[in-house]
Amino acid sequence: STMTARDEITRLTHWVEDFPVAGVRFADLTPVFADGGAFREIVGELSQCAGDDVDMIAAIDARGFLVGGGVADRLGTGLLAVRKKGKLPPPVHAQEFALEYGSDRLEIPATSVSLKGTRVLVVDDVLATGGTLVAASALLEAAGATVVGVGVVLEIGALRGRERMRERLGGTPVSAL
Ligand code: PRP
Ligand code: MG
Repeated sequence: STMTARDEITRLTHWVEDFPVAGVRFADLTPVFADGGAFREIVGELSQCAGDDVDMIAAIDARGFLVGGGVADRLGTGLLAVRKKGKLPPPVHAQEFALEYGSDRLEIPATSVSLKGTRVLVVDDVLATGGTLVAASALLEAAGATVVGVGVVLEIGALRGRERMRERLGGTPVSAL
């Protein structure tokens, strides 16, 4: 295909005003992931965004799961689901965070998976305020992983999530397709 991921995202993203609350313009990537060529291109480009030296993909509950499995398969790495609160059995490491609308908590296993020394690429569908990816990255680093990159399909630049990530996480490369 001659269409890049960027072309496909531009062509297929469904923008919705005032969802889920008034004043928010929601980027619905459902039609992007529903297109086979677009999905394959996205998985391929996300797989390349942190170089070859990656041991683990960390995919964020829930929409990050859609791309995370594909990226892990493409790179031949392991896959870790970073879950919303109450989904994993104890013991867990947990991190509260604020969302663009509301707040939530992310969790990873504290003992059943060893992250010490692993080089992790964190993937999600959308970077908005950056709260989710800052929390996920902090959680992984606290568990002994090195976050070698963050990759998302779409960045809402006006919300300045990239700046927030740089303030909190330093120079970790952030790629948005
Ligand atoms: C959405 C999106 C990102 C996050 C981005 O997830 O999938 O994970 O918000 O927002 P932020 O940069 O401001 O943190 P959400 O928690 O709404 O729901 P999901 O479970 O459907 O992925
Ligand atoms: Mg999400």
